[in-house]
Amino acid sequence: MDPRRLLLAASATVLAAAGALVLAPTAEAATTLGASAAEKGRYFGTAVAAYKLSDSTYSGILNREFNSVTPENEMKWDATEPTQGQFSYGSADQIVARAASIGAKVRGHALAWHSQQPGWAQNMSGTALRNAMLNHVTQVATHYKGKIDSWDVVNEAFADGSSGARRDSNLQRTGNDWIEAAFRAARAADPAAKLCYNDYNTDGQNAKSNAVFAMVQDFKTRGVPIDCVGFQSHFNANSPLPSDYQANLQRFADLGLDVQITELDIEGSGTAQANAYATAVRACLAVTRCNGITVWGIRDSDSWRASGTPLLFDNNGNKKAAYTAALDALNGGTTPPPTTPPTTPPTTPPTTPPTTPPTGSGCTATVALNQWNGGFVATVKVTAGSARINGWTAGLTLSSGSSVTNSWNASASGSSGAVSFTNVAYNGGVNAGASTEFGFQGTGTGPATATCAAR
Ligand code: XIL
Repeated sequence: MDPRRLLLAASATVLAAAGALVLAPTAEAATTLGASAAEKGRYFGTAVAAYKLSDSTYSGILNREFNSVTPENEMKWDATEPTQGQFSYGSADQIVARAASIGAKVRGHALAWHSQQPGWAQNMSGTALRNAMLNHVTQVATHYKGKIDSWDVVNEAFADGSSGARRDSNLQRTGNDWIEAAFRAARAADPAAKLCYNDYNTDGQNAKSNAVFAMVQDFKTRGVPIDCVGFQSHFNANSPLPSDYQANLQRFADLGLDVQITELDIEGSGTAQANAYATAVRACLAVTRCNGITVWGIRDSDSWRASGTPLLFDNNGNKKAAYTAALDALNGGTTPPPTTPPTTPPTTPPTTPPTTPPTGSGCTATVALNQWNGGFVATVKVTAGSARINGWTAGLTLSSGSSVTNSWNASASGSSGAVSFTNVAYNGGVNAGASTEFGFQGTGTGPATATCAAR
């Protein structure tokens, strides 16, 4: 080869290498929630519904952004032990398998809770219920042994308001020591999992969080196994992020255990919502023993209170201002979130109103069915049409011999044949195109379709 060409080729290589050096990112900010949290020794997780894992938009965001998952309903008592002594782990196992494939931790939710109990447990009391609950804790924690980072062993056991009392429930009526009994059973079954107490309306200092604080302090003193406290952090205008959020997390951490933000969602939009997310993230980062943050769903449309648009991604899976604010806060940035552009007045004259009624308003309902031999749990999604609705009724028809045993997030009318479910106070309003979910459990075969009527 001509020596000059050799020289040229060699210098081109050197130049390319130098260019690569110059262009290589130097300590650039992480670009996903999970990666950024991991840099701070924390996780950033989301609630996951097994039946959505086949949705490519949903799965794409999950796989890209999060390094912890919480099964939204699949590990609850009604889902895992629909018939006493017969365990059904299919949907929860799917979520655990996905977590393993993307290297995410799993928060187990929830072993003992007054809500979403199977019908057979709802009808039990006394020693029989206590033993059934302990067996449930043991079986489920054993099935997932070694796969769970943190378990919500007991969920929502304290009353709201100023009493500081335990919540009345069938479990509470088995004796005040039911909580510690559940924690001991969980520790025996899976010694490596962190064991958490989880609740809502405990995010600031108040009578309820003081009562939880006293219980945790007592458990630590007496050696009852507890490793963490979960703060659900469901915020909206009636229950805003408290000004002493960080201080409250810190006082629990000071008891010598971890704290976690477990079900974060903040109703609202634009800058106010973005600022609140940034504040929540900063509060966790400021508390050394705050291990991680879980948001309660991915897109607004995935939320259990979708009409409040409380999450980080919009219905199409696009990042919202709240996402950017949360990521910036994780990265330690101080840049204020983008302000929402002012709405410009319309430049075109208003068109004459249509003479035919608009089509596509009202609502539709779809059913996701978890069916097993002899029973089912149906999760029904009510989606508003092209206009906001202020109330809804979903109709379903059960096959002969099948019946509804309990329901949640809706008020049921009828239990066999044609049944209907009407919204409860908080989930009647659904914005155009947004959704909300309710569920019910039954014996026999569950329905695959539903109709919807709007008010
Ligand atoms: C909710 C789920 O998001 C809904 O899909 C389900 O219909 C009801 O439960 N506190 C908790 C969670 O601990 O388990 C709840 O999840 C939300 C409130």
